[in-house]
Amino acid sequence: MAPHSADFYRKAPPDRGASSFIHPPTPANIAFFAEALKAGCLVAIPTETVYGLAGLALRESACRSIFEVKGRPLVDPLIVHVASPDWVARLAEIPDEFKRLTEAFWPGPLTLILRKKPVVPDLVTAGHETVAVRMPRQPVAHALLEKLGQPVAAPSANPFGYVSPTRPEHVAESFGPQVPFILDGGPCEIGIESTILDLSRPGTPSILRPGAITEENLKLKLHLHPNLDLNPNRNHAPPAPGTLPRHYSPATQLLLFPFKSSPVAAPREAVVYLQRPSPPVSRDTYWLSEDGNPVTIAQSLFALLRQLDHAGHPRIHCECPPPHSTGLLLAVRDRLNRAAAQ
Ligand code: TXA
Ligand code: MG
Repeated sequence: MAPHSADFYRKAPPDRGASSFIHPPTPANIAFFAEALKAGCLVAIPTETVYGLAGLALRESACRSIFEVKGRPLVDPLIVHVASPDWVARLAEIPDEFKRLTEAFWPGPLTLILRKKPVVPDLVTAGHETVAVRMPRQPVAHALLEKLGQPVAAPSANPFGYVSPTRPEHVAESFGPQVPFILDGGPCEIGIESTILDLSRPGTPSILRPGAITEENLKLKLHLHPNLDLNPNRNHAPPAPGTLPRHYSPATQLLLFPFKSSPVAAPREAVVYLQRPSPPVSRDTYWLSEDGNPVTIAQSLFALLRQLDHAGHPRIHCECPPPHSTGLLLAVRDRLNRAAAQ
C-alpha cells in the first residue's frame, strides 16, 4: 500500500474524527501505527523530550517523506530511534564508551553520534559518515518500537525552524491532515530535545546540543569530560539544524531580556518570566514556573511560546537564564537564544 494512500486512511483507527488525528495509545492503535510505519507512512510519536515525526529509518522513501513534510533541507541529518542498545550494532560502529553511557543513560534523552554502517541510508545521515541514535524512555514510544521491531528516524514533529511540539495538539495544529496519525502520549516529560553527544572522534567526546543529560551528569556518573561545542557548524561537518543560529522560532518577534530584570514592553506585548513575578502583574504577563525550577521551565517553554504565538501579541519578551548557566538552564538558554535570533 502506498504511503499516504487513500486505502491506508480508510483503515485508520475508528476514533479518528474529521478534526482529530490524535489516537489514544491502546494496544490495538500501537499495532496499527506499527503497520502504518511498515507500509511506509509517517506517524507522529510521543517521546520524553518532544514529539517526533517518525518513518522507517532503513527505508529511504519513508525518510524522504519526513524531509518533505517538515520542509527540512536534505543537508540536515535525522536521529534514529531504537528499542534497545542491542539494535545499534547493526547501524553503527560501537565505541568504547558506548556500554557505560547506555547503561547509565538509556533509555533516556541522550543521542549518541557514532560512525555509521552502510545499511543506514545516506539520506538519514545527510551523506555523512556518522549516524545519530537514541533510545527514548517514553513508554508509548518504546512499546511502538518493540512492536515494530526495527528503528525509526524521527526529527521533532514541527515544520523546519518552528517551535518544537511537546503535546499531540501541537503536531495536529502544525500539520493537520498531512499527519493524520498522532499517537497520544500526553505532554512531554522533559519538553526540550535530547542532549547530543558526539562520540565519532575517538578521545574527544563533544556535546553538540545541550539537553536534560547534562555535562555535569556525564562528569559525575562516568568521569567523562566532553567538550561543549554548541556552534559546531563553524568548526566541522556535519551541520546540525538544532545548532543553527536561528531555530525553534515563533512567527511573532521574540526578544530576550536579562535574568532578573524587566523589559520595556509596549501595551499588548507579552512578557514571560522564568519564575512567577511578585504582583502586580499586567494582563499580558506570563511565567514558565512558579518557583524557578529548571525542570518546570523546560517543560513549559515550547508550549508557552506556541500559545503566545497564536494569541496575537505584537511581540514576545522572554527572560533569559544567565550566561554561564549550567544543567537544564543551559539548554533552555541555548533554545531561547536560537528562537530569538534574527
Ligand atoms: O529529543 C530529540 O532528540 C527529538 C525526539 C523526537 O527524539 N528529536 C530531535 O530531532 O530533536 P531533530 O531532527 O529535530 O534534531 C536532530 C538533531 C539535529 O540538530 C541534527 O542535525 C542532529 O540531531 N544530528 C543528526 N544526525 C547527526 C550527525 N550525524 N551528526 C551531527 N548531528 C546530527
Ligand atoms: Mg528539531
